[in-house]
Amino acid sequence: MYPSDIFSRMYAGDSSTKLYPKKEEAPSETDDILQTNLFNVMLNRRSQRKFEDREIEDWKLEMIFAAADTAPTAGGFQGFEVYHVKNLDVKLKLVQAANNQPYVNAPVVLVFCMNPSRVKMNFPPHIIKKFSVQDATLAAAYAQLAAHALGLTSVWIGMIDEQKVMQALVTDLTPAVILCLGYSQKMLHPKPKRKLTELINEI
Ligand SMILES: Cc1cc2nc3c(=O)[nH]c(=O)nc-3n(C[C@H](O)[C@H](O)[C@H](O)COP(=O)(O)O)c2cc1C
Repeated sequence: MYPSDIFSRMYAGDSSTKLYPKKEEAPSETDDILQTNLFNVMLNRRSQRKFEDREIEDWKLEMIFAAADTAPTAGGFQGFEVYHVKNLDVKLKLVQAANNQPYVNAPVVLVFCMNPSRVKMNFPPHIIKKFSVQDATLAAAYAQLAAHALGLTSVWIGMIDEQKVMQALVTDLTPAVILCLGYSQKMLHPKPKRKLTELINEI
């Protein structure tokens, strides 16, 4: 089963392959999602740190995970792992690990960690490590865009004490980013970015 099969997986009624074997939830907004324009999603994405006290539907979560699974990775080895933190105590430890940023206690908290041991390539360790940082980061970025395409909002948390995060998760994998997701309390306009003429350095 591939991520691109996600819609057939959702409707096939084959509960054995479902990540969340809870009750079947037919997404009412599927047509909107299928019509989502990637460029609009990119242009309108905006970091948000105030979330509604509302759960994210399981089917949306599954699509976000499937989006992360589609990201390009070094050699296709997927040198990353995703921790979906549901436990409140662990979330509060992550708040502390993130310099006490309170919004890390979000409705959905995903920690993208590097897993260099998955990258079976004959390169020096520092290259393999760099690959796994990039794998984890790209997967998180794909998940973030997918979340916005699904009408959710997010904030990317890079200000983390790696050791504290590892202790909270009880893992020896180094975290790259915590992605906090939820429904937005209010819509914010996208932040202005650089002019393309300043961004692109032609040589
Ligand atoms: C590498 C990286 C680290 C970040 N770390 C944090 C963080 O620790 N806390 C936070 O509130 N936002 C963090 N952000 C979010 C940025 O503040 C935000 O993306 C930036 O202000 C641009 O706003 P926008 O996402 O709305 O375009 C981080 C973003 C990136 C890419």
